[in-house]
Amino acid sequence: MTAPEHGGRLNAAAKLWGIPRDRWLDLSTGINPHGWQVPDLPTEVWRRLPDPDDSLEALVRQWAGAPADAACVPVAGSQEAIMALPRLRALCHVGVPSPGYREHGHSWSRAGHQVVRLGWTQVTSEDESWLEDLDVLVWINPNNPTGETIEPERLLHWHQRLQRRGGWLVIDEAFVDGCPELSLAFATGRDGLVVLRSFGKFFGLAGMRAGAVLAGPELAERLRNAIGPWTVSGPARYVMGLALKDERWQATTAERLSADIQRLERLVSYHGLDASRGALLFRYVPHPRSAELAEALAAQGVLVRQFDQPPALRFGLPGSEAEWERLSQALTACGISLTNS
Ligand SMILES: Cc1ncc(COP(=O)(O)O)c(C=O)c1O
Repeated sequence: MTAPEHGGRLNAAAKLWGIPRDRWLDLSTGINPHGWQVPDLPTEVWRRLPDPDDSLEALVRQWAGAPADAACVPVAGSQEAIMALPRLRALCHVGVPSPGYREHGHSWSRAGHQVVRLGWTQVTSEDESWLEDLDVLVWINPNNPTGETIEPERLLHWHQRLQRRGGWLVIDEAFVDGCPELSLAFATGRDGLVVLRSFGKFFGLAGMRAGAVLAGPELAERLRNAIGPWTVSGPARYVMGLALKDERWQATTAERLSADIQRLERLVSYHGLDASRGALLFRYVPHPRSAELAEALAAQGVLVRQFDQPPALRFGLPGSEAEWERLSQALTACGISLTNS
């Protein structure tokens, strides 16, 4: 079973295209280019074992809007939970979004479960019989890469139907920051509802490997036992705590990203890439010639994420003005090469 590929593979791009790593504009991930600034950490944070009584769980609950009785498990990136959850259930039928972040389907399949790939049209139709065949439904809200969103009422209705027969609803909210009205964190604490949050995207701290799971107490305890102590390092816990307390940064960042993503939408649309959709950190553009376009951009040192099924491109946000300008120029050049080909 081959592991899914992801964006951000700059070394591989540099090798393939013969362009040195430091000359790339990497828009292939959905990571905030203006992430939270990490300060120098006290030496003690590096030297002592992580302290489980550092109040991090309470801070996460408050930030996410989860009730006091929701259990919180800090994890080494939401990816850690994505890999651990399939080991907590007897073999069963699991629905995952397609297209969607492929690690979900990969992890459940690798653990031996039957994975059913669900498209947008199917899950949003009036006929919800597809849900009857599932024991677990994983949904990504907003979805990566498509940016599609499902309103919390519908998700809670799915949860009720699954829970009646001991099923789970797992909601991956890696890209929900800045859109709290979409989050199901407020409903966590009940059996069979699991919400995953990430520190890699909005906070821009993907390299730190930090995230959190909000769930009912029994499932959370099993997850804690499965991952064992100290998978989240002391420095990561410390930085998570500081970033969560920085509510001013969070508010100004949500405003900034919302302006930036509108700018990106206008830019791609100006260059003929219409009908883009997305979340706060990326635009997704269905395009029949996505592979050709991605290549034309890469030839100019601009790395975007390309998908085949269906053919589409995903653009992350440029950071500096120079990067915006570079993207604009690269798109102009692509337009010419595409019309000429
Ligand atoms: C939808 C989604 N969920 C989860 C993850 C995992 O992120 P992390 O482990 O950094 O929290 C990713 C990473 O790209 C993602 O796109």
